[in-house]
Amino acid sequence: MGVLDGKVVIVTGAGGGIGREHALAIAAAGAQVVVNDLGGSRDGSGDGTAMADEVVKEITEAGGEAVANYDNVASMEGGAAIAQTAIDRFGKIDALVNNAGILRDKTLSKMEEGLWDSVIAVHLKGTFCVTQPVFNHMKERGQGGSIINTSSTSGLEGNFGQTNYGAAKAGIAGFTRCLALEGQRAGIRANAIAPVAFTRMTEDLQFMGKEGMKDRLDPKLVAPLVVYLASDLSKEITKRVFYVGGGTISEMRMVRTAGVTKKDNDGLWDPEEIAGSIDQILA
Ligand code: NAI
Repeated sequence: MGVLDGKVVIVTGAGGGIGREHALAIAAAGAQVVVNDLGGSRDGSGDGTAMADEVVKEITEAGGEAVANYDNVASMEGGAAIAQTAIDRFGKIDALVNNAGILRDKTLSKMEEGLWDSVIAVHLKGTFCVTQPVFNHMKERGQGGSIINTSSTSGLEGNFGQTNYGAAKAGIAGFTRCLALEGQRAGIRANAIAPVAFTRMTEDLQFMGKEGMKDRLDPKLVAPLVVYLASDLSKEITKRVFYVGGGTISEMRMVRTAGVTKKDNDGLWDPEEIAGSIDQILA
């Protein structure tokens, strides 16, 4: 008995890295899996079927059930085709893991329109493009569902040289919180993860080069949280963002401080007063 027995789960970008581990763990937990991957390089250039096919082969050889899909998450047609692959092959969708991603880092002063647009397209628009048809299918089917999106500390905490990626990833967290509200009545949950793992995406980051990092940040350590979020074990959990990596799971929260409310002058502050109260506003 697996915690995902009888469920159908889509994982985008599941041909390598974290997504591959999600797909393997989800299949091992009993679900039928759509393994989507465009099969390109780290910056999103190129495409191919080998990456998704290889993961489907691994799942099948281990006794699981999976189907490959090679569509691009960054288009409405691609998103619709990914959802349709699940419905055609397995008859329904219970959970979606939006994981596909690319990197095109540059500091803001050197950022080019193409680098900006492609990163926003794959991460932020891609999350929308795949989620919409899946969400509508779940609503029509009336059995609820779970959407798991992939944010990042780069967007939620900031990271040098990643204004495009950080904007997309923080956008995904906002998308998730709004979606959780829209899905509530239909029993469709929406949560996000901010993973940390040693993959082709992060292998050249400075801190990844430290002794033992590759083992400590094995991408397979991220997958159990996603299995949990896709399963009925997390039935009450929605609108959350989880940090996960290296064996640690924690919640990342948006906080609003108690702040200061101006009582006089109809609540209208003047800038010097704000300067005088800034420590209390930030406390
Ligand atoms: P990765 O590069 O190994 O995996 C990304 C996968 O997405 C690749 O297999 C790629 O072919 C696929 N992909 C790219 N564009 C696609 C498209 N348009 N349509 C379909 N598939 C596409 O990288 P990694 O590290 O496994 O990243 C997975 C997710 O986790 C990404 O969303 C990434 O931004 C996020 N993430 C990773 C972190 C890390 O520490 N590795 C940190 C924070 C977030």
